[in-house]
Amino acid sequence: MSTSLKSHGATAYPKARRMRFRFGAPDPKNRHYVQGDIVMSHLVALLSSAFPPGEESFIRSVRRFSDRITDPVLKKRVAGFIGQEAMHGQQHRELNDQLIRMGYTLVRIPAFGADSRREQAVIRVENLIPARLHLAGTAAAEHYTATLARRLLTSPELQALPGDPEVHNLLNWHALEELEHKAVAFDVYRAVGGTERMRITVMLLPYLGAIPLVSLAVALSIALDPSGWHPIEVARQAVDVLRGPLVKGLTAEVGEYLRPGFHPDDIDTEALVRHWQRELFGADGELLDRVR
Ligand SMILES: [Fe+2]
Ligand SMILES: [Fe+2]
Repeated sequence: MSTSLKSHGATAYPKARRMRFRFGAPDPKNRHYVQGDIVMSHLVALLSSAFPPGEESFIRSVRRFSDRITDPVLKKRVAGFIGQEAMHGQQHRELNDQLIRMGYTLVRIPAFGADSRREQAVIRVENLIPARLHLAGTAAAEHYTATLARRLLTSPELQALPGDPEVHNLLNWHALEELEHKAVAFDVYRAVGGTERMRITVMLLPYLGAIPLVSLAVALSIALDPSGWHPIEVARQAVDVLRGPLVKGLTAEVGEYLRPGFHPDDIDTEALVRHWQRELFGADGELLDRVR
């Protein structure tokens, strides 16, 4: 049996959990909520700001094929994927509102809500792109986020980062669900006849561009934050992030997707998913009281 056809096990039906996190009132004195780490605080803020509009675009890319998805199992997985991504966007928006109040200027840029004129403009651009290309972009982004999620959930160093506990909870929940649905967009792309050539070519953009682009955005975000103007500290923290468990070796890991025939389930995360499902939502799960 080829790996791409094997059972999806723990990731068979991603479950949309309705969450409500309790972010405290913004404290301007505690702007760098990843304790004392200016670079990590800005990096997490920027990633959080990008999630809602990104995830809404991912949902639209899959919906463009909703009438072509006939397999009942895939249909159910798509419903779970959409439910999870919609909830991620909603909860990250709550955090992003707090970040904006704390003075994270760049977080404002992608913070447009549904039905806004900016969103309508994004949708018009998306509709100019062939639907399969849009979906290939989603499949690539999903592999990227699944890779980051795996790193977050397997690294004791990242789990031990001192900082705002509710941000930590939000990221762990989001990371778990990214692993639960990591292959859904990919499988829709295959089911609707997406080619390997397009899939791999589309990944080249985030593969080569994501780290330079995000680094530039973090630098700009810190430049706009006078409380972060400590160049030596920032340079040291930037080196620590680049050499640390989140980023070191990330490009090579993301690059596994460039191999012809690759499937997200080739990277076995089932035991990891089960572990975190128990940890967060098991009988004594840490986040049970955040489920609505
Ligand atoms: Fe997500
Ligand atoms: Fe996702």
